[in-house]
Amino acid sequence: MSKDSRDRATIDGFSRLSKDKKIAWVSTHYAEDPSSFAEELHQFQHTDPQVQKVLDGFSENTLANFPMPYGVAPNFLINGKVYCVPMVIEESSVVAAASAAAKFWLERGGFHTRVIDTRKIGQVHFLWRGRKHLLERAFPELEKQLRQHVAPLTANMEQRGGGILDIQLRDMSAHEPHYYQLLVEFETCDSMGANFINSVLENFARTLEHFALDYPHFSEQEREVDVLMAILSNYTPDCLVKAWVRCPIAALGSCGPDMDAHTFAERFRQAVRIAQIDPYRATTHNKGIFNGIDAVVIATGNDFRAVEACGHTWATRTGQYRSLSQCRIKEGVFHFELELPLAIGTVGGLTRLHPLASRSLEMLGNPSARELMQIIAAVGLAQNFAAVRSLVTTGIQKGHMKMHLLNILNHLGADEQEIEQALQHFSDKVVSFALVRQFLEAHRQHKEMAKK
Ligand code: MEV
Repeated sequence: MSKDSRDRATIDGFSRLSKDKKIAWVSTHYAEDPSSFAEELHQFQHTDPQVQKVLDGFSENTLANFPMPYGVAPNFLINGKVYCVPMVIEESSVVAAASAAAKFWLERGGFHTRVIDTRKIGQVHFLWRGRKHLLERAFPELEKQLRQHVAPLTANMEQRGGGILDIQLRDMSAHEPHYYQLLVEFETCDSMGANFINSVLENFARTLEHFALDYPHFSEQEREVDVLMAILSNYTPDCLVKAWVRCPIAALGSCGPDMDAHTFAERFRQAVRIAQIDPYRATTHNKGIFNGIDAVVIATGNDFRAVEACGHTWATRTGQYRSLSQCRIKEGVFHFELELPLAIGTVGGLTRLHPLASRSLEMLGNPSARELMQIIAAVGLAQNFAAVRSLVTTGIQKGHMKMHLLNILNHLGADEQEIEQALQHFSDKVVSFALVRQFLEAHRQHKEMAKK
């Protein structure tokens, strides 16, 4: 028998309980100490009930808020404009590393970026048991009807310069019997566009079914279209942005003790090359890029799962998972770049509803989606530069351990003097929770004895 006292109860209608009752139920059945559990959840409500209501509206069965650190990386010079970039991330050293890289490139011309394209994708997947050539022949008429029927939905977006760019019929029946799809390309301007795209696609699904029913050249069997699903694709290879930094190798300066700029540049290039050829390294390398990207994506109220999923698919576009960034050295110039798809928005979704997402956008000068794509790509590149620079010079543990040590000291309630002494003591030693506690206890005992 487990010693766990929790009764693992089940419940019907949980979602209909008030928040207080939800907390009480979860505390009673799933907490080790129900009253402290409930108290803590109550402490994590926002002080302003209106804001709490907004936050609760983002999800379901909410009990409390789960705070994450909200920081900034200043000094980002991107295409000649300086940004102070908001970042939401729970991992220590990430914001410090992005800030250090931003400062480094601030003095070397900054980041350069370019949006390559902004096309989004959606699909209607359907089964059709008929003669392919007839469907292909009917397609121009079908396309006309698809566009006509969806016109009330797309009018607004068209006024903003967006809408449906292209509709293709794809025969996928070689992979799955009777399987076809409509592959649709969209321009969604400053919105990420998920709702717009999905509404259009569902409208397409209905038009497609009706079209087949009424099309005079189809046989009885061909009148039946079975729409399996209509949904946007998070793989948006044509919603693409590029960021790069470059400078003469000599301008890289000294890169730590015993490493001149040329050695550093070559080691850096090799490290990025390894991430191009080895998926084990590529995964970690790209994870470092997403440390920066996700942090800004979250801070601006965008969907980091969508951005990550897309980025990782893009990283496999050659048939092997590879680094998203590339480095080259040519005629004495160090060039480092990142190219990836980023489907994000600056209107709609959470971007304006979440109070801090809205503040993040304000801090960035209320950018368009295109500008935000470029800021995010620059941060991803900066994060990658910082990580690889540490790896090929000092190793990352040095920076990480200092942050880790500070976290432990904070947790143990160390005062300023204790922090200073601990930083000195652990500057050349391994950091662990137990060792830091031991150090503090000894230090405190020593101080007590000195008082007596
Ligand atoms: C840690 O969160 C990210 C790194 O591992 C990235 C990398 O290895 O390039 C430092």
